Amino acid sequence: MLRTHTCGELYISHIDQSITLCGWVHRIRNKGAIIWIDLRDRYGITQLMLEEDDNNKDLIAKAQTIGREYVLQVSGVVIKRLAPNPNLLTGDIEIKVQAINILNVSQTPPFLIEPNTDGGEDLRMEYRYLDLRRSPLQKSLFLRHLVTQHTHQYLAEQHFVHIETPFLIKSTPGGARDFLIPSRMHEKQFYALPQSPQVFKQLLMIGGFDRYYQIAKCFRDEDMRADRQPEFTQIDCELSFVTQSDVLTIFEAFVKYIFKAIIQVDLPAFPCLTYQEAMAQYGTDKPDIRFAMPIVDLTKLLQAHPCPLFDEQPLVAGLCVKGGAQYSRKQLDGLTTFVKDLNLVSKTPIYIKYIDSNTIQTSLDKYYSLPQMQALAAHMQASDGDLLIILPGDVEKTRVALGQLRLKLRDDLQLVTPDQFAPLWVIDFPLLEWDEEKQVYTAVHHPFTSPKEEDIALLSTQPAAVRANAYDLVINGLEVGGGSIRIHEKHLQEKIFSILGLTPEEMSQQFGFMIKAFEYGTPPHGGIAFGLDRLCAVLAGEASIKPFIAFPKNNAGRDVMMQAPAPISQEQISELGTFVN
Ligand code: AMO
Repeated sequence: MLRTHTCGELYISHIDQSITLCGWVHRIRNKGAIIWIDLRDRYGITQLMLEEDDNNKDLIAKAQTIGREYVLQVSGVVIKRLAPNPNLLTGDIEIKVQAINILNVSQTPPFLIEPNTDGGEDLRMEYRYLDLRRSPLQKSLFLRHLVTQHTHQYLAEQHFVHIETPFLIKSTPGGARDFLIPSRMHEKQFYALPQSPQVFKQLLMIGGFDRYYQIAKCFRDEDMRADRQPEFTQIDCELSFVTQSDVLTIFEAFVKYIFKAIIQVDLPAFPCLTYQEAMAQYGTDKPDIRFAMPIVDLTKLLQAHPCPLFDEQPLVAGLCVKGGAQYSRKQLDGLTTFVKDLNLVSKTPIYIKYIDSNTIQTSLDKYYSLPQMQALAAHMQASDGDLLIILPGDVEKTRVALGQLRLKLRDDLQLVTPDQFAPLWVIDFPLLEWDEEKQVYTAVHHPFTSPKEEDIALLSTQPAAVRANAYDLVINGLEVGGGSIRIHEKHLQEKIFSILGLTPEEMSQQFGFMIKAFEYGTPPHGGIAFGLDRLCAVLAGEASIKPFIAFPKNNAGRDVMMQAPAPISQEQISELGTFVN
């Protein structure tokens, strides 16, 4: 070993010990007769001290040549610091340096290797290996390491078997766009990278592995967002002989275990909301329930009296903003602009300032009496000083607009903190949705998701009304996981494929292997996949998943460090055959 200790473990108890450390030069303070160097490794920072005397002229001369991020091996004696630094774990001691071995030199880094750096995101992505030296990224990746370790341990104890499934698979339509890989040996044919191990984990159930899991890389060629990367990781699980409630129970326990083990948080029992309830109350299928402010349906109440603003509107709904009566005209105009810019509803919001039960300031007083306004306020559970926001319009779009406004108000009014956690299950998703553009039904989750037994009859008459045995885990407004109970009968699977518009030929060409497997004793099965990157971000209270991926892509899906994607050579193109030319 080139070192006896790390830069994070020397304390008062080591005083007078001779030690050797290795690390990077974090900071240098050269005061002439004394030089201090902060030496950093992933465990911490230790201060080195070099004081000039008659015997160490060479050592001082060498130290004068050292720059930031040089790699050093340093030997010396641990001494007590005259001025301790309470912000540093090793802040009570320093090393009186006796020898320095410069293991490597470094260019001056293009940004500060500090928790708060001066480098922009693109620059840091280009020099990701330097960014990785910063403590926030070291912490994020260590958190991810702990999550994967605990996942392996927990699931193995629950008799799940870790099985790897292939990366070079067949492209199938539906879902996101596939990343395609041309085959050299089979001209004009392509592999696809898996969007998830979905079909393989179902085939593993047919193969008799009744509890499977995999920490699996997935690839989706879709638009980027803070919580999306083209290449991401799932904790992918599948079980045989289970019901939906078994899956929810098993994985609620898993998520609770992870929160306790990683951040010492005891999560409450996860409430369940149906998709319909989530949409009606929060205008989204991934509600942030850390704060209340549900959407209140006011249609009946307001349409009981004639009012040109609301008559004939399919929905009139509202939000009650606690303490919001103090909003200025300008602030309210800001909310109006926000709603307009969503381009969802044609009407603008109407505001009611509920100062107290006798002082209700609103333009609606032309149409409604004070008692009618009081009834509205009571229906919205308003208290003195609240702001009521009313929006009429199309049922779904009005809900979505109010849902977005609710999130804006959350941020504007700082209604939540990163250390709050509000998990919930969203269940009973619709099985199918109508694609206006393509004029076909598409699967909301994926085509292997089973319909609810009691809704199967609707498949032939009202496909859009069929509910699925599908569920999402949502934490703080982020979809952290999703899964379903699968179809395990050949005929039902064929029926779903045909509703999705596949001809028997297409069915056999695209999913023939799956239909064939269904003929050989497929057990009832179901599962779930968690976004590992997202789970880590939620645990750390961060919005972006990038810090939890060692080498992520930028917002345009590029690896700006190695410059991928990139053109390939003419020779490679020729090898692939003529079709890519
Ligand atoms: P689904 O498509 O819902 O389900 O994905 C499961 C979870 O993976 C995460 N996720 C992503 N994370 C980062 N970047 C992305 N581009 C991205 N896309 C998805 C989310 C999501 O909840 N095979 C099914 C699971 C099943 O049915 O068992 C599936 O992939 O956290």
